[in-house]
Formats: sequence, structure tokens, C-alpha cells
Amino acid sequence: MTVVISVGGSIIAPEGVDCDFVRGFCALVRRFVAHGERRMVLICGGGAPARRYQEAYREISASTAHEEQDRIGIAATRLNAALLHDALADLTDRPLLLNPEELDQGPQFSGRVLVSGGWKPGFSTDFVAVTLAEKCGADTVINLSNIDKVYSADPRTNPDAQPLDTISWTDFRRLVGDEWVPGANLPFDPIATRRAAELGLRVIAAGRDIANLELILEGKPFVGTTIGAAAPD
Ligand code: UTP
Repeated sequence: MTVVISVGGSIIAPEGVDCDFVRGFCALVRRFVAHGERRMVLICGGGAPARRYQEAYREISASTAHEEQDRIGIAATRLNAALLHDALADLTDRPLLLNPEELDQGPQFSGRVLVSGGWKPGFSTDFVAVTLAEKCGADTVINLSNIDKVYSADPRTNPDAQPLDTISWTDFRRLVGDEWVPGANLPFDPIATRRAAELGLRVIAAGRDIANLELILEGKPFVGTTIGAAAPD
């Protein structure tokens, strides 16, 4: 059994590194993979460093070119991923994954844990998580971020936005749109959304709480939003 978790950069590095979160998360990974044939694929986002450096690039170069901003963001994801990779070094026997297409030997990888950051311009680490879920034969991606649930609209701009327990891919696609914008702050990026809907994947969006993540892993009731819970649409 392989569990795919997209760990939002906003919870690894909300400003500086949140060492308490990273410590607690790594301890949970260790508990989880200690049993049976369980494996974990962890994909790390860029968080505050990605946004800050992208902002700096826009200011210095006076350019809004997407590709350069994306490349800068990818560097930040790999910095966060390097931290998790090395903190879990004894559980993984491969270097940080830079390209999910390298994982061509089927659903199994050697070691208990596989850690990846970003891949290439044009999407976020959400898309990398979807690609790795497909490669590993996983039907679910757990997407952890700094919001506990998906809302019916953007809660920062719409006071009527309601937290949701479930949402179909069709409704979710209406929420996030189709366009990729570097550094976008969406519950799941539009490119990853399109692919996940095509594959009929289920995405569980949840916050940073480690006890809640444990409930998700145990298949117990949790706080979060299940996207695409029903039949693929
Ligand atoms: P993410 O958007 O994945 O990190 O990558 P995040 O926002 O910290 O993660 P969440 O939203 O909390 O889950 C940061 C930036 O890096 C670039 C994009 O510009 C993205 O916004 N990136 C990342 C890519 O261009 N390609 C990738 O494969 C990954």
C-alpha cells in the first residue's frame, strides 16, 4: 500500500521553517511505514520562500514571465523537499526525486519513503502528486495545506464562503478555473485538478494538524474536504 501526501510549502515553511510541524510529521511517517508493506510518497511545496523569491524576481526584472517564476518556485520546493528527505534519510534509499518520470519501474520503489519537490514549469507540486499517484497505483492524494477545508468560494474575498466536506470534480473545477498562475494560492491547482478528474482520483484536502492526518491514514472521520469522492465525473 502506497500513500501519496502533498505537503504544502505553506506548512513546512510558513515564514521560516516550522520545525515543530516537520518533527511531528516525520514522526508520523515513521509510525506509519513501520507496519507491513506500507510506503509513503511525499511531495513538498515551496511555501513562503517560493513566493518571496518569485516576488523579488518580478521586482528586479520587471518581468512577469511565468517560466522563470516557476523555475524559482521549483528551487524552493526542492529546498523544502531536501529537508524532509534528509530528515527521513534512513527510510529512503534514493535521492530526492526531480522528475516523476524517472519512476518507471512500476508501483514499487525501493525504500519505504520517496520524497519529491517540484518538476517543471507550468503547474504546482499538486500536479507532481497526481502524476506520482498514477505511477504508484494510488487512488487517493492527501493534500495538506494551511487551510482545513475547501470553501465554496474564496473566504478571503467572499464572506458567504462555506467550508465543504465533499465536492465533485465538476464543481471543484468551477471553483479553481483552468488557468495556471505561478505562486497561485488555490486548494488544488487547475492543471492538477484536470488530470486528477480524468484519472478519477480522490483528493483529501486537510490542514496541518498531525492528529487529524493520523485519522485520515486510519480511515477514521477527519476534518477536511474530499474532492471527487463519488464516481469519476
Ligand atoms: P507549490 O505551489 O507547489 O508550493 O510550488 P506551495 O504553494 O508552497 O504549496 P501549497 O499550495 O501550499 O500546496 C511553488 C511554486 O513553484 C512552481 C510554481 O510557480 C509554484 O507556484 N512550481 C512548482 C512549478 O513551476 N512546477 C512544479 O512542478 C512545482
